[in-house]
Amino acid sequence: MTACLAMNLAFRGLHPCFAAEVSPVKLARLDDPGVLAQIHAGMDRYAVLVFRDQEFSGAEQIQFAKRLDGEIHAKTGAAAITKNRFGDEALTDISNVDENGEIFRSNDRRRMYSLGNRLWHTDASFQDPPGRYSMLFSIVVPPVEADTEFADMRAAYDALSIEMKSRLEGLRAHHSIAYSRQILGFEFSEKEQEILKGAVHPLIRTIPRSGRKSLYLASHASTIIDWPVPEARLLLRELTEHATQQQFVYRHSWRVGDLVIWDNRATMHRGRPFDDSKYRRELRRVTTLDVPRAAHA
Ligand code: OGA
Ligand code: MN
Repeated sequence: MTACLAMNLAFRGLHPCFAAEVSPVKLARLDDPGVLAQIHAGMDRYAVLVFRDQEFSGAEQIQFAKRLDGEIHAKTGAAAITKNRFGDEALTDISNVDENGEIFRSNDRRRMYSLGNRLWHTDASFQDPPGRYSMLFSIVVPPVEADTEFADMRAAYDALSIEMKSRLEGLRAHHSIAYSRQILGFEFSEKEQEILKGAVHPLIRTIPRSGRKSLYLASHASTIIDWPVPEARLLLRELTEHATQQQFVYRHSWRVGDLVIWDNRATMHRGRPFDDSKYRRELRRVTTLDVPRAAHA
C-alpha cells in the first residue's frame, strides 16, 4: 500500500531569507517525479537545501543530479591542473588529499588552486553555460569547524536602492578563473590560460519559475563590459561587500552524509578556513549545466 501514499517533504528554514533542511528522504534511488518536483519547488524558494544522512556512490550521485536537473557540467574545476581522483570530470573533488589519501603538502599546487574556494564565488561562472545546481556530498569531516558559507543574492538584490538597481540593469560582467586565482597569487601557465578564457554574464539575473532577480557576482568577476576596469572592480567589490553582510549569510556545519544543494544563480558561497595541514576534509561535488530544462522538469 505504501506505493499509493504520496510522499510530502517538509522544509525547515535555517535562516530568515533562505536555506532549509529537508525532512528525511533517501536521494540515491529517488526517482518519483512528484518528490523531485517538491525539491525543485524547495530550491526555488530556499536556494540552499540540506539533506542529512545520505549514501551515494559517485555514479549514484551523478545519476541523482541528472534525474533532478538534467545535464551535468564537466568543466567546473581543476581539470586543467590536476588529474581527477575519481576518474570522471563529472565528479569534482573538493578535498585536501591526493590520490593516495595523503593530505596535500602546504606548497602543493593542487592545494593552492583549491584555496580559491575560500573566496566568495558561484560555481563555473567563468564558463558558458555556467553551473546551475551544485550538489556537494560530505564523506570525511574534520573534528574542527570547516564550514561553508552561503549568501542569498536575491535578498541582497532586493535590498539595493532603486537607484542602484536601475544603474545595474543591463550590465554584463566578464568572469575568469585566471583572474580569481591570480588574486591569491596563483598563476596559470599560458597553455592553461588558453583553455580558460572566461565568459560574460549579466550582473542581474532573473531566475526562471520563481521570477526573482539576483545579483550574479563571484570572485571570478573581473570587469564590467565597456567600463573602465578600476571603476568596474570598485563596483563589483562594493556589491560583494553588500551581498555578503551577515544578514544575507547562512553558515553550514558539515556532518558526514550531508548532501547540500545550492542554486548558483541565486547564491554565492565560500569555504571557511581550518587547519587543512592537520585534518582531512573530503567532499565530492556534482554540478548541473545552466541550460534550459526539459519542459516537464
Ligand atoms: C564547492 C566549494 C567550498 C567548501 O564545492 O564548490 O566551493 O567549503 N566548496 O568546500
Ligand atoms: Mn564552489
